[in-house]
Amino acid sequence: MKPSQTVRRVGSLLVKTLLAALLVPVALAFASAATPPPPAQTNITGVWVIKIATPDGNVRKFYFNLKQVGEAVTGRMLFGPGRGIPISEGSLQDGKLHFVVTFGRPPRTRQSSWNGTVKDGKLYLTAPPFPGRPSRTFVAERTSAKALLPPPRLPLPALHDVPYNGLARTPPMGWNSWNKFAGKVDEQDVRGMAKAMVTSGMKAAGYTYVNIDDTWEGPRDAHGNITSNRKFPSMKALAEYVHSLGLKFGIYSSPGPKTCAGYTGTYAHVQQDADTYAKWGVDYLKYDWCSASEIYPGPKVHGYPTVHQMRAVYQEMGDALRKTGRPIVFSLCEYGWDHVWTWGPKVGGNLWRTTGDIEDNWNSMIRNALAQLPIAKYAGPGHWNDADMLEIGNGGMTNEEDRVQFSLWSMLAAPLIAGNDLRTMSPATTAILTNRDVIAIDQDPAGSPVKRISPSQSTELILTRPLADGSHAVGLFNLADHPQSITVNWHAAGVTGKKLRARDLWKHAYVRVSEPSYTATVPAHGVVLLRVR
Ligand code: GLA
Repeated sequence: MKPSQTVRRVGSLLVKTLLAALLVPVALAFASAATPPPPAQTNITGVWVIKIATPDGNVRKFYFNLKQVGEAVTGRMLFGPGRGIPISEGSLQDGKLHFVVTFGRPPRTRQSSWNGTVKDGKLYLTAPPFPGRPSRTFVAERTSAKALLPPPRLPLPALHDVPYNGLARTPPMGWNSWNKFAGKVDEQDVRGMAKAMVTSGMKAAGYTYVNIDDTWEGPRDAHGNITSNRKFPSMKALAEYVHSLGLKFGIYSSPGPKTCAGYTGTYAHVQQDADTYAKWGVDYLKYDWCSASEIYPGPKVHGYPTVHQMRAVYQEMGDALRKTGRPIVFSLCEYGWDHVWTWGPKVGGNLWRTTGDIEDNWNSMIRNALAQLPIAKYAGPGHWNDADMLEIGNGGMTNEEDRVQFSLWSMLAAPLIAGNDLRTMSPATTAILTNRDVIAIDQDPAGSPVKRISPSQSTELILTRPLADGSHAVGLFNLADHPQSITVNWHAAGVTGKKLRARDLWKHAYVRVSEPSYTATVPAHGVVLLRVR
């Protein structure tokens, strides 16, 4: 381009800019006189509720507590009082809402990006597709901020000792729906499970309780009575069926307003619900802390609710069950908080969970088992440390690892509550769950505590437990990923005397043993379990 051309270009650009500077305000003034200003954008600050009718007959509510400043939107998505996840990247521009919610804790967080519109005082919110669920639009309506407050706190009874109900002289044995089915369990499944408990030989081996975990609950009726939801048309009829097979029937609830899966809990209806359970024919109650934290949040010790509140809350149900006059096993589930093993029997508890939830894998199973060792002495006839339910047959562990779980739980005198599908289990799984020699260790009437005699960090886990007939159960567990030769010294295991007789409880055969020790090659993640006289 020549210099003269450049001067001309710049000149014309200057003229255009000046013209625009003069004419645009005139044009804008003209336009604003002709069309009214756009309506002020709705401010969406406040609490919004989404109500969803679920196929089982419940109505689920979740909330958005939003704050809008200019176009920026912040806040939380909440599933009930106190239980919320933060909203980020929130904005409302030209009636179009956008934000991101983050589920889970690092490192396992998952983000979902929501879009919405504001129309007629409602929010139309579109959630992105989740695995197995298509994208969905929800209608949120304004609600009072009170919806986010927990119900008022009711007075708790003064502490006292609830008398022992005489049940669970040995650790309870049965089945529970949670590990395999979680929320996908209904009456037909439970009937099938009860029948399979008989036909598989489990009943004959000692299993008794058929327990429905969370998600059976419906809303309360006009009189405040708890109902079962559509998946369980008649709890009474189901209990009668289970009883007709010579088995016992268990259910689940929470002292909070909601269970862990968000279903109706017993809060403010403790005696009324206990009476309903008794009327239905319930023989076992698993009582799971869950949303009770919202009602009794505080003073916390190391982040946990204090012992006084938790003990009083469990005592209230212990008393209520007792008042029904029906023998009902009382299973405490509060993840081992507040040293429950020190007060569990005083609230009428027959067993108490000592850890968080088990998962269907080797590490989780071993973690739960090892956590029982320091507290073994607190268990005994009528009151047991509950290492959580069995994962045997659920597929996350090998048969060898399943044998380890069954052996460990038996050495610990832990409740043997199967968590698999009994209707379709393999012969190998059936053989593990019905190994009577191992069950006899679990069910030993003395209920003496187990002792570890190998160093605590070692991959050799040697456990010993004295049994009522004077013999000892001795378990050689290999926690390593390769086979190991493990040696037990009889004296250290508490086994005394000459002429020892030892039976291998998985080989179902006597093994040659002599003084002063015994060495076995134990497969990776495997066990050799002996009963020695
Ligand atoms: C908690 C318990 C589990 C199970 C679920 C049900 O996580 O620890 O065993 O009962 O609640 O929601």
